[in-house]
Amino acid sequence: MDETRTKILGRALLTVGLVLGPVTASLAADGAELYRAKICHTCHGERPNEPVLPAYPKLSGQNAGYLFQQMKDIRDGNRTNGLSVAMKAVVGSVTDEEFQVIANWLATQ
Ligand code: HEC
Repeated sequence: MDETRTKILGRALLTVGLVLGPVTASLAADGAELYRAKICHTCHGERPNEPVLPAYPKLSGQNAGYLFQQMKDIRDGNRTNGLSVAMKAVVGSVTDEEFQVIANWLATQ
């Protein structure tokens, strides 16, 4: 590879890094914001490992894929065990995309 191409490639990679860095950071911020905006914190706690009632699950550090599936199953009525009816009543309008962003954030908490 000649010098010019190496420079161009270097710049391209730098640009990708500059763009993706803030995107990753803002996704994390969106997860935290959505967790509050969609009132998840009123049951699962300001910190998602400190639920407001002992019977409610701790969410921090759980696998994102698992969290995402449980959120959808509860919203869509495919999971009806335990106390899930309490959550179903309030998450009806949360979209799959919003659940995904929240799940990704929760997995890092
Ligand atoms: C009204 C209280 C309440 C609200 C608000 C609520 N949840 Fe829940 N959530 C629960 C309860 C209770 C359970 C446990 C259900 C059971 O007993 O099986 C649960 C279960 C879950 C689970 C499954 C946990 C596991 O280990 O299987 C996830 C994930 C979850 N909630 C995420 C959320 C998110 C994200 C929000 C906001 C969009 C939210 N919840 C809002 C009460 C709530």
